[in-house]
Parts: sequence; structure tokens; C-alpha cells
Amino acid sequence: MLKVRGLKGGYGGGRLIVDGVDLDVEAGEIVTVIGQNGAGKSTILKTIFNMTPVRDGEIVLDGTDIFSVSPYQMLTVGLAYIPQHHSVFPKLTIAENLRMGGYLLTDNKLLQERTAKVEEMFPILKARRNEFAASLSGGEQRMLEIARTLIMDPKVVMLDEPSIGLAPKMVDIVFSTARRLAEAGKAILMVEQNVKKALMASERGYVLELGQVRIKDDAQALIADERVSRLYMGVRA
Ligand SMILES: Nc1ncnc2c1ncn2[C@@H]1O[C@H](COP(=O)(O)OP(=O)(O)OP(=O)(O)O)[C@@H](O)[C@H]1O
Ligand SMILES: [Mg+2]
Repeated sequence: MLKVRGLKGGYGGGRLIVDGVDLDVEAGEIVTVIGQNGAGKSTILKTIFNMTPVRDGEIVLDGTDIFSVSPYQMLTVGLAYIPQHHSVFPKLTIAENLRMGGYLLTDNKLLQERTAKVEEMFPILKARRNEFAASLSGGEQRMLEIARTLIMDPKVVMLDEPSIGLAPKMVDIVFSTARRLAEAGKAILMVEQNVKKALMASERGYVLELGQVRIKDDAQALIADERVSRLYMGVRA
């Protein structure tokens, strides 16, 4: 579904932060990128989404070259991106936040259908639709961010650290939300520091070091990999 080849990305000054990354995410699967702080995980997502000043490589979504699509138009070609830093509009209601997710939809009936479908998937958001988004817990706000992108019915959803700062119970809810999306046929590309739980929710994973893929394997194999547990899961050899 999403095919990335030879991806290079950076912020200028001659240093490449993402240095030749190949990755694939198929419909129905969650693929997680792990790696230390500063490895370039967020930059991969930003580079795919055309948000870095320096970029090169091949980005193909469902057979279509999307390398030069502007970030503003990415949702219309089926790619959604939820950044690491929270992005709900706190002073808008939950319903208004969802409405913002459909700003590219001109068909009102379609907007209403999509909103109803998304609200069905997230009963908490439906029940509290007229409350300010600021009144939601951190985890609920994360769900609202995910729900908001679903209004455009993307094929691929990229999530940067969806579990960051959440209580363990909310972490589980967020990962099970990602699983539900995969089961609904979406391709999920996730970046996570919560390595074990993220891999447990994933089909496959990539280990990134200094902007390059060091290991690529099934999630179960990565969980069992001694290098991964020592470096990224706080387990001592
Ligand atoms: N806007 C920017 N301008 C310049 N350099 C940046 C910018 N954003 C990130 N960098 C640099 O790029 C490198 C990789 O950053 P990135 O945010 O991709 O890492 P990460 O793997 O997501 O880390 P973390 O786990 O801390 O989120 C870092 O050295 C960082 O300082
Ligand atoms: Mg990051």
C-alpha cells in the first residue's frame, strides 16, 4: 500500500537525518519504527508527508507516486499523519474538531455519513460531542486526533508516538484503536518509544539507527531479538 524507497530527508546544513530508508506497509497491517531519541523516526514521517526542506527518494501510495503532493493535499490522496505533538483544537468542541478533519470534503452528505461512521467507532467522542476538546483526557484527545483523520477515509495512517505521555490503560486503548483501523483494512505506520507494547500490536517493525534501517523483521522476532530488548526495552544482557 505504502512503498518507500531510498528516502532521504533533512533540515538543511548538509546533514541527512533520514539516510536512504526503504519501507513498506500493506493494507491491514501495523508496522512500527523504533529507535533511540534523535534516530530520525519523526523525520521519516515528516519527510514522507513532504514537510522537510530536504528530501529525495520514491514514495508510492497504492501505485501512485505521491512524492510531490503537498502536505495540504496528502489527505485527499489517502495519506494521514498524526504528529508527535498533540494537535486537537482545545477551544473547539469535539464535534467541531471532527468537522475540521473534513475541511477538504465539499460534499455535505458525505461529510455527515463519514462523521456518523467515525462517531460510531468512538462512542466516547459521540457522547461528549458538544464538550470542548480540552475537557478530554490525553488519551481521549489522541483518539480524537485519530478520529479526525478518519473523516477523510485515508488508506494509510501514520502515527508518531501515539502512546506518549499516556497512562498504561490509555496506551492499551490507543494501540487497540490502531489494531481496529488495521482490521478495517488501513495500513498503519507507527513510530513508538513504547517498544514492547507497540511491537505486540504490530505485524512488523524496523529498527532505525542514525537515519538508517539496521534491522527489519516480524514484530514477534524483534521482541525476541536480544539486541532489541537490550537497546530498546530496558532489558540487560
Ligand atoms: N525542525 C528541525 N530542524 C533541524 N533539526 C531537526 C528538526 N527536527 C529534528 N531535527 C534533528 O533531527 C534529528 C532527528 O530528529 P527526530 O525528531 O526525527 O528524531 P526521533 O527519532 O523522532 O526522536 P524522538 O524519539 O526524540 O522523538 C535530531 O538530531 C534533531 O535534532
Ligand atoms: Mg520523534
